[in-house]
Amino acid sequence: MTVPGPSPYDSDLPITLASWRTFCADQPPAPLLADHLLTGKDVRWDDPRLRYHGPLVMVKTPAIQDIIRLVQQQLRSNMGRRGSRYGLVLDGPSATGKTTMLQQAGRTHERMLRRIYPDDTDSIPVIYISVPSQVAKGRGASTIAEALCFFLGLPPTGDLAEIKTRLYHVMSKARTQLVLIDEIHNLRGAADINQISDYIKDFAELLPVTFVHAGLDAWKIITSGSRGAQAAKRYCCYRTQPFNRGTTEEKSAWLQVVATFDNALRLHNHQPEDLLPLAPYLHQRTKGYIGTLSQLISQAAQEAITNSTEKITEDLLGTILLDGQAENLDYGDEDCPDKAA
Ligand SMILES: Nc1ncnc2c1ncn2[C@@H]1O[C@H](COP(=O)(O)OP(=O)(O)OP(=O)(O)O)[C@@H](O)[C@H]1O
Ligand SMILES: [Mg+2]
Repeated sequence: MTVPGPSPYDSDLPITLASWRTFCADQPPAPLLADHLLTGKDVRWDDPRLRYHGPLVMVKTPAIQDIIRLVQQQLRSNMGRRGSRYGLVLDGPSATGKTTMLQQAGRTHERMLRRIYPDDTDSIPVIYISVPSQVAKGRGASTIAEALCFFLGLPPTGDLAEIKTRLYHVMSKARTQLVLIDEIHNLRGAADINQISDYIKDFAELLPVTFVHAGLDAWKIITSGSRGAQAAKRYCCYRTQPFNRGTTEEKSAWLQVVATFDNALRLHNHQPEDLLPLAPYLHQRTKGYIGTLSQLISQAAQEAITNSTEKITEDLLGTILLDGQAENLDYGDEDCPDKAA
């Protein structure tokens, strides 16, 4: 199996085998402050510490731990099972970390297999695809098939049955175990959910493959159409949500998240645990959305580097403009673009 070359998506999404393998490999260590002493000069756009504070850190939240455990359970139970295999759906609002959970579950499984079978360099145990936006009506199954081909570096030529045969042979030879399908809500417009369900079901029956889907309203989408009842029997649903801070346990979970970000900061005037007293403020600003929290701390840290204060304070955090939902902006009129057309 040849690994497809770099794609324009490589830096963002691990949707080719090569970029997925890079994503699964060891991550570079955090920069050492001793290697980045202050010079008094303007910080360049490509400064390594600025870049580091962009994605910052992946927090192993309780939800990520749940998903890793659930995916492992499904994989173990599907191993050697004949006929219908069970799958998982991650459903929840935007910025609650669905994509991150899906990718981490896949990365954890792949890294575990690589540790157990270090010489097995040919297998492709995990495939990750992301459904592109604006899937045309009737093209849902083709879109999934093409994305699988894109990941595997296969030509997406021929009709759906031919592509399925090609994919089947490659996935079977590569001992694929886990297929992660992200942004499933983009199939909403495809209106051919039965065809999609059948296409996926065929793979899950022919091959020992576990499917995990993620997206907004993912459960509704997977269980819609006349095959809905069948899908509802085959998939478990995990709902993601923002962090609450009501109970002592919830407060402690949030504090843990803040502590992980705090620990990851590489700012010259930052002292360990400086962020902890700001945990209630951070929750109030972000409404408990991990995506918003990550954006807030990341931007504040980059600001602290560029303005040379090298420290995150409540005043600095207050200057960071957050996403519209966190800033309580009204949403636009759903029909607006059509009306304008
Ligand atoms: N566990 C985490 N640790 C650190 N950052 C996280 C974590 N989970 C999510 N994020 C960050 O939050 C942002 C949103 O996360 P993600 O894309 O996973 O959410 P999502 O639920 O898939 O959103 P959408 O529904 O819009 O696709 C990303 O920038 C991601 O890096
Ligand atoms: Mg997502």
